[in-house]
Amino acid sequence: MTPPLIDGKSFASGIRSRVASGVLALSARGITPGLAVVLVGEDPASAVYVRNKGVQTREVGMNSYEHKLEATTSQADLLALIARLNRDSDVHGILVQLPLPGHIDSDAVLNAIDPAKDVDGFHVINAGRLATGQKAMVPCTPLGCLMMLRDRLGDLSGLDALVIGRSNIVGKPMAQLLLAEGCTVTIAHSRSRNLPDLARRADILVAAVGRPEMVQGDWIKPGATVIDVGINRIERDGKPRLVGDVDFAAAAAVAGAITPVPGGVGPMTIACLLANTLTACCRANG
Ligand code: GUN
Repeated sequence: MTPPLIDGKSFASGIRSRVASGVLALSARGITPGLAVVLVGEDPASAVYVRNKGVQTREVGMNSYEHKLEATTSQADLLALIARLNRDSDVHGILVQLPLPGHIDSDAVLNAIDPAKDVDGFHVINAGRLATGQKAMVPCTPLGCLMMLRDRLGDLSGLDALVIGRSNIVGKPMAQLLLAEGCTVTIAHSRSRNLPDLARRADILVAAVGRPEMVQGDWIKPGATVIDVGINRIERDGKPRLVGDVDFAAAAAVAGAITPVPGGVGPMTIACLLANTLTACCRANG
């Protein structure tokens, strides 16, 4: 029997509607939120994400400013663009699409963004604020995961949560958010031993490792809520397929609820980016 699917697509659509209402309310004061997205180089997956961000930004009534730079752009030129966007009062959110080309120091670039406009929540100030329980811009993917978990489970306090993956983009902020909710949090990664045993204790399992279908069905605690952040392109039976980090069919037979891939976490990321941009705009305008 398939457990309840957590429908990220419809959840995200609800968030976008609420953001659009917020944008409309601001328009009465002559304010339009603006999101600047910077893409360096021609990574095809990044180009698709950036295009989708632009489309959805405009759909909720915000201004979208897209800056597409050559792969050979110098770090100094990129930093100069960020300084300009920091000063631009029409820009309320700035996102630099990752990964950046190898000759650019990503940390230096992310930390050059005004923390108040850091809608990705990657600036070290926002990471520090999140870790210390202060008002922060929260990274979009983990924020979307948390919204779905709260919606499904209500109060999360006291639950055992396992986050597989320790990236700055998903794993670490996800763990901080769950800790703030009162979960007992374990962070596992490629070096962790006894991963199946750690997983079997988890009421909440968040998989963000980028390894196709690594999490097996018999790793899942019966009734657990499974959030699959992975988006992996594989070939099966000669056809291209998109799969998560969790063996969906096997896990779905055991879990209490599970996010599908596609249609789970993915759509939530851009919806949360738009919500963060609205928040940044509201804070900038009192
Ligand atoms: N590349 C993959 N995910 C993300 C994200 O959430 N934000 C940015 N800026 N780049 C990414």
